[in-house]
Amino acid sequence: MSKIPKCSFAMEYHENTKVLSEPRPFDFRTQCKIYPSSKTIKFDKIDCSDEEQNKSDFIRTLLSRKSTRTFAKDSIGLQDLSKLLTLSFGLRGINLSGMSLRTYASAGGRYPIEVYPVILRSDDIELGIYHYNVIENSLELIKTGDYNDQIHEFYKNQPFVLNAPCIIFFSMVFERSMEKYGERGYRFIFLDAGHMSQNLYLTAEYLDLGVVALGAGMNSDDEIDNLIGLVHEVENVFYGFAVGPSHFVKD
Ligand SMILES: Cc1cc2nc3c(=O)[nH]c(=O)nc-3n(C[C@H](O)[C@H](O)[C@H](O)COP(=O)(O)O)c2cc1C
Repeated sequence: MSKIPKCSFAMEYHENTKVLSEPRPFDFRTQCKIYPSSKTIKFDKIDCSDEEQNKSDFIRTLLSRKSTRTFAKDSIGLQDLSKLLTLSFGLRGINLSGMSLRTYASAGGRYPIEVYPVILRSDDIELGIYHYNVIENSLELIKTGDYNDQIHEFYKNQPFVLNAPCIIFFSMVFERSMEKYGERGYRFIFLDAGHMSQNLYLTAEYLDLGVVALGAGMNSDDEIDNLIGLVHEVENVFYGFAVGPSHFVKD
C-alpha cells in the first residue's frame, strides 16, 4: 500500500484535478515569446521537401508526426500493437546497478508509469483490458470483454474515439517517484509521461498508425481506475491515447 501521506500537496492537487474544467478561449499570438529589440541569429527553415525527407527515416518520421482523429474502422493487429508498445516503452537493458533501461528517459530511473491497452476492435487479440508487462515484454489480460460502451461514454466529448480500435491508458504509481523525490516527484511523473508520449507518437508514425493524446474524458479519471481495477491510493490513470490505422491524407 502507498506510503504517500494523504495530506501531501501533490495528492490534494491530484484529487482536485480529476475532472476537466471548462476550457477558456486563448490568443494564439501568446504562444511564442519574442524579444523584439534583440540581436538575432537566423536559422534555416525546416526543409519539408520529399527530397530532404527521403534522406532520413528519422527526419521523415519527426516531420510527419501528428495527432490523428480520423481512424479507419479497421481493427488493431497484434503485430502492430506489439511493435508499438515494445519500441515506445520497452526494455533495452539492465544497468550495472540492476536498474531497468527503457526506450525513454525517466527521472531517477523510477519508471512510475504503467501502460494499459484496452482492445476495442481486433481480429487477432481478444477484446478486453490489458497491462503491458515491460520486463517480460508481454500483454497481460486483466479483463476479457467488449468495453466500447464504457470507453465511449467516458470520451463522449471526443466523438472520433468511436472509431479507434485501441485506447492506451497511462497510470501513475505515485510511490515510485514520490518516495525518492517527495512532492517534487509528482512533477517528474508528468515529465516522464511527456517522454513516453513522444515515443508513442513517433513510433506510431513510423509504423503508419494514427495516434492522438486524450488529456481528459467527460467524467472523473476514477471511472477508468475502477474499470481497470486499480487500488485508488496506489495507482491512478491520468492520460489516454486513441490508437489505430488512420484515414489521414498528407497535406
Ligand atoms: C497533454 C495533451 C493532451 C491532449 N489532449 C487532447 C484531447 O483530449 N483531444 C484531442 O483531440 N487532442 C488532444 N491533444 C492533442 C493536441 O491537440 C495536439 O497535439 C495539438 O493540437 C498539436 O497538433 P499535432 O499533435 O497534430 O502536432 C493533446 C495533446 C497533449 C500533449
